[in-house]
Amino acid sequence: MARTRAGYRCGACGTAVPRWVGRCPGCDGWNTLAEEPSGAGGVGSAPDPGARPRPIAEVDAAAWVHRPTGIGELDRVLGGGLVPGSVTLVGGEPGVGKSTLLLQALAAVARQGARVLYATGEESAPQVRMRAERLGALAPSLWLVADTDVGRITGHIEEVEPEVVVVDSVQALADPALSSAPGSVAQVRECASRLIRLAKSRATTVVLVGHVTKDGGLAGPRVLEHAVDTVLGFEGERHHALRMLRAVKHRFGSTDELGLFEMTETGLRGLPDPSGLFLADRRPGLPGSVVVPTLEGQRPLLVEVQALVAPGHPGTPRRSAQGVDAGRLGFLLAVLERSVGLATLGADVYALAVGGVRVVEPAADLGVALAVASAATDRPVPADLVAIGEVGLGGEVRQAARTGRRLAEAARLGFVRAVVPHTAPDAPAGMELIRVATLDAAVGVALEARRPVRPRLTLVDPSSAPPGPRTGSD
Ligand code: TYD
Ligand code: MG
Repeated sequence: MARTRAGYRCGACGTAVPRWVGRCPGCDGWNTLAEEPSGAGGVGSAPDPGARPRPIAEVDAAAWVHRPTGIGELDRVLGGGLVPGSVTLVGGEPGVGKSTLLLQALAAVARQGARVLYATGEESAPQVRMRAERLGALAPSLWLVADTDVGRITGHIEEVEPEVVVVDSVQALADPALSSAPGSVAQVRECASRLIRLAKSRATTVVLVGHVTKDGGLAGPRVLEHAVDTVLGFEGERHHALRMLRAVKHRFGSTDELGLFEMTETGLRGLPDPSGLFLADRRPGLPGSVVVPTLEGQRPLLVEVQALVAPGHPGTPRRSAQGVDAGRLGFLLAVLERSVGLATLGADVYALAVGGVRVVEPAADLGVALAVASAATDRPVPADLVAIGEVGLGGEVRQAARTGRRLAEAARLGFVRAVVPHTAPDAPAGMELIRVATLDAAVGVALEARRPVRPRLTLVDPSSAPPGPRTGSD
């Protein structure tokens, strides 16, 4: 593991420089650089000082003991659970549910008989108790302390001797020996590194909460990412109940897993089988709706993509993308016009992924393009059909990663047809594949012509996109 050399770091933005300079090259602040000791923050999986080089195959493979928290979706992301002595940073926007998740997780560990400690620096102890009551998290071996002084918190840890401690949040902590304010890069680094040293020396599992904003407005915890063993990101749209947990970095397992939760009145509820949820309110037969099997890390999710094409003001067409990539939507509209003859130039186009999910991978191109084509022509896509494939600039449909896995999930949820690139693997049982080489062909096969066609927008050349033959029934 790379260790930080002795150097200087900006207390405002975290930029590291090897020599002292008056003005920080990162944020242009004056006199913001402070010396930091060598190795600061590099405490993660401390190398053994007496180590000698050996052939790699003779090194014992580490057998990490993952201790399940009992919160299934969290354990999934952690690769089985928390590793004793490890340090995990849980980042997310304020209000996303970090405190809720960790209080529930601590209570679940406590119910297994372990003593655990929740140190809150943001809420008062009675507030946390009230919340714990509402969450059903009043386990007898769950200890609670409200404090912001890092020295006292390490004292509490030594006194209570918990197996797992949650510090909520690292921005609220302060070391009174430092002059900078709580939440500053210098404070965050110092407080975290004291807790990390404690975790390693006592084999206590430490979980740090860090507030992070998408625009980097609260960048403090970012400077800790290299120093901790695991970084989890907790995300969700403010107006949706869906919450997603991902490992951004994980020294004890893969970063490919996704944890899914729903925020309810009684806390977070795991969603072990989420695909059905996203499709629950779907109205089959609606033009502009296509189901796309996406992959989040290793996890397949079936998501409904919707499009609406409406007459716009000439010269100022509106393009709105929610949960789908705005740049790719623009490019798909251009390809639809050039390769399929479906012009949306003067129209307003809205596209969204239903349920607060973000479907931004190229494999969703075909589904988004079909949704727009369906909306523009007012012809529904069959309700039992899914679409998978990346669309190229020439209108060709390309392979998507792990198509087989996506198809298996679609088949499991009862879909019987899939429009796929011609190179796609064999279909799972019960599913018929419609292999296409071009977007034009895909539009031809996917748009149902059963309903009266009331195109608000005409195909430039109707012969280029015939309401193609359909096989099977629905
Ligand atoms: P919180 O865990 O405090 O967020 P964070 O620690 O990331 O800042 O949760 C914030 C929101 O979650 C709060 O606005 C209300 C909502 N919430 C629920 O909907 N149900 C619940 O049971 C709890 C505890 C919170
Ligand atoms: Mg909180």
